[in-house]
Amino acid sequence: MDVIEAHGARIPVIGFGTMTLKGDLCVELVEAALQLGYRHLDTAQMYGNEREVGSGLRGCGLKREDVFLTTKVWFNRLAPGDFERSVDESLEKLGLPWVDLLMIHWPNAQIPLKDSIASLCKVKKAGLAKNIGIANFNIAMIDETAGVASEPIAVLQIEAHPYLDQSKVIAAARRHGMAVVGYCPLARGKVPGDATLQKIGRTHGKTASQVALRYLEQERIIPIPRTSKRERLAENLGSLAFSLSDAEMAEIGRLRRPDARIVSPPQAPQWD
Ligand SMILES: NC(=O)c1ccc[n+]([C@@H]2O[C@H](COP(=O)([O-])OP(=O)(O)OC[C@H]3O[C@@H](n4cnc5c(N)ncnc54)[C@H](OP(=O)(O)O)[C@@H]3O)[C@@H](O)[C@H]2O)c1
Repeated sequence: MDVIEAHGARIPVIGFGTMTLKGDLCVELVEAALQLGYRHLDTAQMYGNEREVGSGLRGCGLKREDVFLTTKVWFNRLAPGDFERSVDESLEKLGLPWVDLLMIHWPNAQIPLKDSIASLCKVKKAGLAKNIGIANFNIAMIDETAGVASEPIAVLQIEAHPYLDQSKVIAAARRHGMAVVGYCPLARGKVPGDATLQKIGRTHGKTASQVALRYLEQERIIPIPRTSKRERLAENLGSLAFSLSDAEMAEIGRLRRPDARIVSPPQAPQWD
């Protein structure tokens, strides 16, 4: 699979999101995704499925270095000491000595950013994470992070789908050489029924979901769609197999609208 490179990280251009997937279904879907050709998995300590994701990864028969695995530290574990314990717990559950990408899941206004970034960098230096990243940071936080980090920050993960304008925060991440990973790429189920995306899809023999994922891929945003249905794993991976024209990209760009943000919990920063 093609990769996007950032500060030495080589990130496969689509990933499998695993939030809400639990138990045997999670193990089976992770194995099935990897057998189908996915090479990038997204989990987090908060998802409560690191054991299952690790089991699926170890059971799939691929070499460890052929799969890019991300996990994240929840925002209430960012204090020095607690951060490192959270990472140790994640690795123990995953059954792995290191992850490809470790991210801060959300900022925490109660804990100095420089302290959690120092912990993040320390974990990378210790070899427990090959690469490090941040999620749900605003522009000021991205700039501050880049200023204090002693190790390169490879990735910003943010909500990204055709309805949400994230151009300012994406530009900030790219100014610092970060790759952008997009969560909720299907707008949590709003994309499949979208008339414009369906219409564009018909001309390519593709679904609205495939069109939305392709749109992000052509914008160099790495989507991490989640599904609990095996057949949709293949459908979503099929987004890599066609191209949208400039006119189609512009038409999809016009789907942006105010109030399109889906994920904004109390710990969210002031969005740009
Ligand atoms: N960093 C963060 O703060 C953060 C926040 C949210 C999410 N994430 C990550 O991003 C991943 C994706 O985001 P998400 O899970 O919130 O939303 P999403 O991927 O946009 O949407 C998932 C929903 O879309 C449906 N779906 C998937 N493929 C489909 C298809 N081809 N056709 C029709 N429906 C389809 C799924 O239903 P079925 O299961 O029925 O297929 C599910 O209900 C998460 O799993 C997680 O790994 C990160």
